[in-house]
Amino acid sequence: MVFLFRRERCDFMLNTGSFVLKGNIFYSKAPDEIICVPEGFIVCVHGKVRGVYEVLPKQYANINIIDYGDKIIIPGLTDIHTHAPQYSFRGLGMDLELIEWLNRNAFPEEAKYSDLDYAGKAYTIFANDLKKSATTRACIFGTIHVEATKLLMDLLEETGLKCMVGKVNMDRNCPEYLCESGSVADTRKWLQEVAHEYENVTPILTPRFFPACSETLLEGLSRIQKEFNLPVQSHLSENLAEVEWVKELFPEALSYGDAYNRFELFGKEAPTVMAHCVYITEGEIELMKRNGVFVAHCPESNTNLSSGIAPVRAYLNHKLNVGLGTDMAAGSSNSIFKAMTGAIQVSKLRWRLADQSLKPLTVEEAFYLGTKGGGAFFGKTGSFEEGYEFDAVVLDDSNILHPQPLTLKERLERIIYLSDDRNIHDKYVAGRRIGKAIETGFDNTLGLTGVD
Ligand code: GUN
Ligand code: FE
Repeated sequence: MVFLFRRERCDFMLNTGSFVLKGNIFYSKAPDEIICVPEGFIVCVHGKVRGVYEVLPKQYANINIIDYGDKIIIPGLTDIHTHAPQYSFRGLGMDLELIEWLNRNAFPEEAKYSDLDYAGKAYTIFANDLKKSATTRACIFGTIHVEATKLLMDLLEETGLKCMVGKVNMDRNCPEYLCESGSVADTRKWLQEVAHEYENVTPILTPRFFPACSETLLEGLSRIQKEFNLPVQSHLSENLAEVEWVKELFPEALSYGDAYNRFELFGKEAPTVMAHCVYITEGEIELMKRNGVFVAHCPESNTNLSSGIAPVRAYLNHKLNVGLGTDMAAGSSNSIFKAMTGAIQVSKLRWRLADQSLKPLTVEEAFYLGTKGGGAFFGKTGSFEEGYEFDAVVLDDSNILHPQPLTLKERLERIIYLSDDRNIHDKYVAGRRIGKAIETGFDNTLGLTGVD
């Protein structure tokens, strides 16, 4: 009884969005520094961070405290580029470059999402796994299919995660079975149908990439962007052959980025995130900076598809907006911790093999990119500075054994390199506790293949 009473009281306090978490707290304000407050207090008032304290100020003495003991508390991670329909074939068919990989793997799989039964099974797995990860916010590609994209939004809404989800647009240079004839009309229908439907999920305009979108389609999407005031996600300069292809398709553009810019789908009034940016010119960097375009750095994808290594150090030097993406299924994992280590590792190879002027990324910088860097695409998220949305992940690293004493900073470093979903103890999004990892797996009511 006593336990029940406490729990009810606790849930009530959590539902008001005002509480205090106690634990070993880490967050970033800037790329080169991780702030650590051992045995500290984070105060959340109405879903927003009020402050991080070594000693709890008296005025918060009456707020409920959830004590996580020796566990580590970090801001929720943000994945600013991934593809939900491709989650089904992650870890398969990697030995190809982009265009062949799209034609052989991605397009045939995405065609299956015209079947809502298949979409339901696949997207249930995707949404459940995302909930179990350390990610609290994500920018997600669906497919061209309106109904399947709505189903994806329904499932993500239930997770409590904050997600931007896009119905994909593509009407040229793609197989007939995925080539849209009414892309703009379908997009408008989708936007009208999802308007005001969700609390956690919002639509994002999603032209697949320049080669797959006709000029008429991009003009139509530009009008829709203004009409619905939408953010935009797409791909930019991922692969050398792709960059050459865009030059052929649109020779009047000064660069690949300028091609999107000429349709007003490249930042400014349209908050925009572009995945990859492996091959970017100085002029493009200036344009991206002026327009506030976000770079989604996807190191695992760039390695698997032999695309190259994005010069993230140069982007940080230019103070561009940069975050991390998992880009599944070109990336195999939904873990932004893995994207952090990947970003560090590929930057070391780039420095060693290609360009000694750009120093490798540090663990501090990678942590920043996966938290505050990408979080900025969602506004004030990804940090525990005052006024930020209260997104937090509570990590239990007690199963990562070690014979030697470790500092808190060393424990965080090992979590970045070694943790998986089993280390996630609890999760909060916008001041709401969405709970820890689902321990029993998910029920098999949908008849999912390969689940006993
Ligand atoms: N460019 C256009 N579409 C895609 C995609 O699905 N994945 C990746 N990695 N790049 C793309
Ligand atoms: Fe992608």
